[in-house]
Formats: sequence, structure tokens, C-alpha cells
Amino acid sequence: MSTVTEAQTKDPYFQTLFAERIGGANYGKSTEIYKFEKIKRAKRRALQSHPDRQLLDFGIGENDSMADESVRRVMQQEINQPENRGYADNGVKEYKDAAARFMKRRFGVSLDPDTQINHCIGSKPAYAMLPACFINPGDVTMMTVPGYPVAGTHTRYYGGEVFRLPLLAENDFLPDLDSVPDDIYRRTKMLVLNYPNSPTGRLATPEFFAKAIALAKEKEFIIVHDAAHILLTFDGPPTSFLQVPGAMDVGVEVHSMSKGYDMIGWRMGFVAGHERIVSAFADVKDNSDSGQFIATQKAAAAALDDDSIPERINAKYKRRMEKLVGVLTECGFDCQMPGGTYFLYTPAPTGTESGEKFDKAEDATRFLIEELGVVTVPWDDAGSYLRFSVTYVAETEADEDALMAETKKRLSEARFVTA
Ligand SMILES: Cc1ncc(COP(=O)(O)O)c(C=O)c1O
Repeated sequence: MSTVTEAQTKDPYFQTLFAERIGGANYGKSTEIYKFEKIKRAKRRALQSHPDRQLLDFGIGENDSMADESVRRVMQQEINQPENRGYADNGVKEYKDAAARFMKRRFGVSLDPDTQINHCIGSKPAYAMLPACFINPGDVTMMTVPGYPVAGTHTRYYGGEVFRLPLLAENDFLPDLDSVPDDIYRRTKMLVLNYPNSPTGRLATPEFFAKAIALAKEKEFIIVHDAAHILLTFDGPPTSFLQVPGAMDVGVEVHSMSKGYDMIGWRMGFVAGHERIVSAFADVKDNSDSGQFIATQKAAAAALDDDSIPERINAKYKRRMEKLVGVLTECGFDCQMPGGTYFLYTPAPTGTESGEKFDKAEDATRFLIEELGVVTVPWDDAGSYLRFSVTYVAETEADEDALMAETKKRLSEARFVTA
């Protein structure tokens, strides 16, 4: 039997040295359980109580396939080239050039690869670094809620504040920029947008982007557009923020190789747009990391040059999404095809006909996992919603259909109440 030693329970001498931004002397002592840990625990309980029941996992937010074979082949070759062995600093020309070709071909956006594009080690670190370029104590970053929180976390690390813009059904899941108080606009330095939006799956209209750009110029803030899911757009060709007139004057768009190219673990992306912002980002980045492995950059460049890869990935997730929307609709959920992303965002049920009551999405999630073996992610930030991801593991279309049939069986048996 293991015993807890005094050294393990006693605070280390440096406990009081932790920075306030991560909790100060209380760092490591919080008993709060975060959403994804709660899901993990509920999954464990579900498996313990129903060991023979397969978990139908719609909770995974990562692509289920490996990167395309052609990309892995380039990686295999490049890994053996001696010239790829060293520090990559702010990135190799091959990747910047491929990103410029991609932006021109897919969106008609012309960028100078030397000054208007810089790679990042996945897009997540770019959101950690961009606040370093702009945020002083007291400055504001406007962020949509729900949303990808990294830029907000780092804004706070720098002593800034986050102004939350709720994404509501009545506004088509676009932030209401007219509702922002003048005092906030006066202190705002960055607005972070993300379309196709995670988790709502909605798209922005060019009119909305035009309005945001006009406001950025009037109120003097920059716009960071998160395009992580841009190649998973289901209604016609995807739209880049940088296509909208004036966008290049006010901001940058951050692209990711993760979702559209099945390259989540490879950690590649790029920041593109206004030269001065790209240069500030590159300066901060240069002081933070030494660039992605050059072989990875060259493999990612090959991926960017092959539009058939994202087209195949898009077709797969679109097909899966259509099946899921059909099944959920038949089971009484209020949902429609999202404009993009592999996420379906649907109002959480409020209970079941047999008398279960759910006060929030988190309660519905727990019930779904423990009672039905169906995993989803709750969002209670702006209304109560469930996020179903179509990144579940299924080798063939027949496997997808079997999984959908089982989903339908379990959800319809539960007889959810939705209002
Ligand atoms: C909206 C959004 N932005 C950015 C990211 C970060 O992607 P990556 O760091 O893999 O490029 C994610 C990943 O889940 C995301 O969903």
C-alpha cells in the first residue's frame, strides 16, 4: 500500500512564489473540476457500470484520421535531409511560399510570403503570442463566448481584460458589436473572431466582417480572425476574412493545418495579413520558440499545394454531419446542418419524459454518458447547448451507419424533452 509522505503533503518552499496569474500561493490547490475532466470521470463510471456497452463518443474534438499518405511520404524523405536538421527560427521559405499560393488559389488573396506570412507551431501558440504584441495592463480583448479561450487567457496574463461577446441564436451566432459600451471600445485593442465558428458551426457573412472592419478603423482596434476550421465549410467555397475589402488594413488571419489536413499533432499553421502585425508576431515568436522542425514545414507545404486533401476530409465530415443531423432530428433535437466545422451545436434537452430534469447542459451530458453511453460536450456559457463532434472512429461508411443506428436507438429510447 502506498503511503502519502510528509514531503508530498507539505507545500514546497517555493509555494508562495507562484505568479498571481496562475493562482499565486494557491496554485495547485484548487478542487474545481474542469469540464473535460468531468466528462472523463463520467466515461469511467459508464464503462464500470456497463462494461459490455460501447461508448458512442461524440466528444472528441480531434480529426480521427492520420495525415494523407502523400504528406507522410514527403515527411519520410525530408526527415533524412541534413539541411533540415537545424533551428527553423521564423520558418522556411518553402512553407511561406506554399501558404501564399494557397491563399491566392483558394481565396484570391495576394500576400507577400516574406512580409505578410509567418508560420506558427500550430495556431494555438499564435493566440498565446498575439496578446504579447498588443496588450498592456488595462487593455481589452473582445472574445466571443463560447469560443477558443487562449487569446483571452494570455490577455489576462498581461494584465488585460476580456470583454465577452455572447454568441446567441437570435443573432445568428454572430456577436452583437452594437451592444459594446463605449468605455470598452476605448480600451479595446483586439477583437478575436472565429468563423466557421467552433463550437456553434456557424459562418459569418461578408457584411458582418465588413461591419467589424469599419468598427476596427473607427474605434482603433485590430482583428484577429481564427480560421482553424475554414476548410471544413459545407455551404459552397470557404470565405477568408482577408477577402473582405479593408481586412488587410486591420488585422491578421490565423490558419491551421490541424483540421483541414488531418495534421493535428504535426503542429503547423500560419499567421497572415497586415505586415506590421505579422512582423510583431514574428518578433515575439522569435523570442519564444525556434520554429517547427523544417521537415514538418516542408511536408506541410506539400499538403497546402494539394487541394484534393482538404476536399476529401471535407466530404467525409460533411457526409457524417448529414447523417448525424438526420438522426438527432428524428430523436427530437432541434438541429440543422452547420455551415462548417465538425461540430454540431444543439440546444441541450431539459429532461426526459420519465421525469429526469436537467438544469444545464452539463447535467444532460452526465445523463447521456452514464445512462446511454453517448458522449457529448456541454456548453453552458451562452444558453445550454450540447456539442456533438463527427470525429468518432469508424473505418468504413458501413461502420458509420451502424454507429448512427445505435445512436438513434439509444437516444430515442431516452425520450428527451427539449423545452
Ligand atoms: C477554434 C479553434 N481555434 C484554434 C484551435 C487550435 O488549433 P491548432 O493549435 O491545432 O492549430 C482549435 C483547436 O481545437 C480550435 O478549435
